[in-house]
Amino acid sequence: MDGNGRWAEGRSLARTDGHREGASAVRRVVRAARRRGIEYLTLYAFSLQNWGRPSTEVGELMRLLATFLRDEREDLMRRGIRLVTIGRIHALPDSLRVALAELVQATSSNRGMTLCLALSYGAREAIVDAVRTIVDAVQLGELASENIGEQTIDAALDGGLPPVDLLIRTSGEQRLSNFLLWESAYAELCFVQKRWPDFMASDLGAALRWYAGRDRRFGLVASVRQRLRRRSATSSRTLPGM
Ligand code: FPP
Repeated sequence: MDGNGRWAEGRSLARTDGHREGASAVRRVVRAARRRGIEYLTLYAFSLQNWGRPSTEVGELMRLLATFLRDEREDLMRRGIRLVTIGRIHALPDSLRVALAELVQATSSNRGMTLCLALSYGAREAIVDAVRTIVDAVQLGELASENIGEQTIDAALDGGLPPVDLLIRTSGEQRLSNFLLWESAYAELCFVQKRWPDFMASDLGAALRWYAGRDRRFGLVASVRQRLRRRSATSSRTLPGM
């Protein structure tokens, strides 16, 4: 969700005004994603590196998150949206952590869409944490090192998120910036010029149409992929991205 600061600066406003407008875009896009039947939506709301921003900006982002949790509660329940988080949540202010834990619990039975907030998140750090979890399990004798595979790492990464199909970055930057590096191995990358506060439901629609036209081969050639796809449709075997 890049470009809040530049959106504000272009209007001679404070960066925090850009984040406020960015929070409105979050509400808009969550609803649009739900309407379109998206099963998982992960928003990179605050990175571990963002802690290094001026304290007024960090404070405003924490306040906006707390407001979002309070104001969106009813809507999440009504639309059947389950809230989860990834990141080093323990670093967040206590009141925010408590509000998050409460809403995660309250929405845990919702089945309409999973909304994941990446907070105090960094993908490399998440991989480091996952490695520590796995090493602990090996040292405790709960896991044999020869049994470590991709699924072990999937499971050790918090959130239990499925692989990313479509990754959208706004504001013209063409970087991943430490976001879901493991999970995005085969993601389609969609770079949008608009600043995040200007991102509309129609822009999500355009990104999804673009995604639908992509030929996703997962390292195979198209004919083999189609054959496997037909076969997996008639068996319980699943392929990446299916
Ligand atoms: C990046 O833009 C955006 C952020 C660091 C924060 C994103 C936060 C929100 C959209 C609002 C709060 C979130 C929720 C879920 C309610 P930037 O500030 O780096 O923009 P710039 O690159 O133009 O400076």
